Amino acid sequence: MDSFSYRDGELFVENLRVADVAAKVQTPCYVYSRATLEDHYDRLTAAFRPIAPLVCYSVKSSSNINVLRVLAERGAGMDVVSGGEVQRAAAAGVDMSRCVYAGVGKSDAEIAGAIDARIGLFNCESEEEFENIARIARAQNTTVRVALRVNPDVDPKTHRYTSTGKKETKFGVDLERARRFFATYGRDPHAKLEGLHLHIGSPIYTVDPYREAMTKTAALVDELARDGFTIRSIDLGGGFGADYESAQSPPLKEYADAIIPLAKPLYDKGVRFILEPGRTIVANAGILVVKVLYTKTSGDKRFIICDAGMNALLRPSHYGSFHFIWPVSPGASMTPARRTLDPKLPNTVPQDVVGPLCETGDFLALDRTLPASIKRGDLLAVFTAGAYGMSMASNYNSHPLPAEVIVSGSNAQLVRARETATSLFACELKPSAIDLAGSRA
Ligand SMILES: Cc1ncc(COP(=O)(O)O)c(C=O)c1O
Repeated sequence: MDSFSYRDGELFVENLRVADVAAKVQTPCYVYSRATLEDHYDRLTAAFRPIAPLVCYSVKSSSNINVLRVLAERGAGMDVVSGGEVQRAAAAGVDMSRCVYAGVGKSDAEIAGAIDARIGLFNCESEEEFENIARIARAQNTTVRVALRVNPDVDPKTHRYTSTGKKETKFGVDLERARRFFATYGRDPHAKLEGLHLHIGSPIYTVDPYREAMTKTAALVDELARDGFTIRSIDLGGGFGADYESAQSPPLKEYADAIIPLAKPLYDKGVRFILEPGRTIVANAGILVVKVLYTKTSGDKRFIICDAGMNALLRPSHYGSFHFIWPVSPGASMTPARRTLDPKLPNTVPQDVVGPLCETGDFLALDRTLPASIKRGDLLAVFTAGAYGMSMASNYNSHPLPAEVIVSGSNAQLVRARETATSLFACELKPSAIDLAGSRA
């Protein structure tokens, strides 16, 4: 599953003790395993080999350019959703023709920048956006490739904030409008509308929503063919699960076995498939390491106060997500057999693991069964934190962002230095007057 494991009561990442890494870079820090990143990427490509998809890693899930480089070296393209992510992918040396650009709100400058960067495909989400992409491409006297993001109205049975494939969400256009969309825009000379894109949600722990979405998409491809439009690419998005608890997610092969029988006939007719996985590759490839600053009891409740909370990992407070948390050096007798809500070990008590921020919502776990012995100075590992961890971190309360480290075997590389307090307000140091001459009174 991943390369984080306890040996003799100590947490290791590949061949290194997590405690040694944290002692060098201090906490809070994100620690990633290169072997896990590569293994997950390889498993995915192997599972889907019969339809040979272009795997566009979803940059938003963990965007450090060194993470992108690891995957690009393996052959990955990138799924980007902003001008900043276009630039990240370029900075990581990714072949831009292997990148797809989604997102409901691309600004004119972002579209122009992506065209300049020679993005492989725009995943377009609305009529107005299509007209804008076509207008900008025409002005730049160029041609771009566009896929229409369709909303197949499928329930992915996940958190409502990350459910994106139902009609009432802001993403894509519904299937009925898709045919009209092609009829209106399908012959544009500057924005070549030739693909379909969908991303129904995340994380999705069952295969049926994919089956339903793929079935509806295949039917749409047939209808469009009857209307005279050839679909050259289908991007099935991401959303495959990760093991927040041991063995929580179906193996990638199960997703592939559900999707491939429906996709293969189209593949055999020349349709190229794209996948946009993020979480399933990187979630279990990263942990967040925090230090216990204080412990205290209030009423009946015991609190573990750490040097980072929702500023470093927003998922527990934003989505109510579960992350397994355990000491980095628990000792052999307190080593958990599985990552689960209650690992059934002696001398444990329910405790709230909280951060330093001035918010009651600032927590990493509530009422969590943890060793009663946890004390000031201990290190805690927050598991399965690689996806939507660092990429959603903030400077709230003016805390510098965590450092990031990638471990490969016995080597560790600092891939993001800890921010300094002064870098936090560097953009504020020199206020300058805004020249409003000529503005309306
Ligand atoms: C368009 C799109 N593609 C891919 C992804 C990646 O999803 P996941 O990390 O669950 O694979 C997302 C995530 O929100 C997304 O919005």
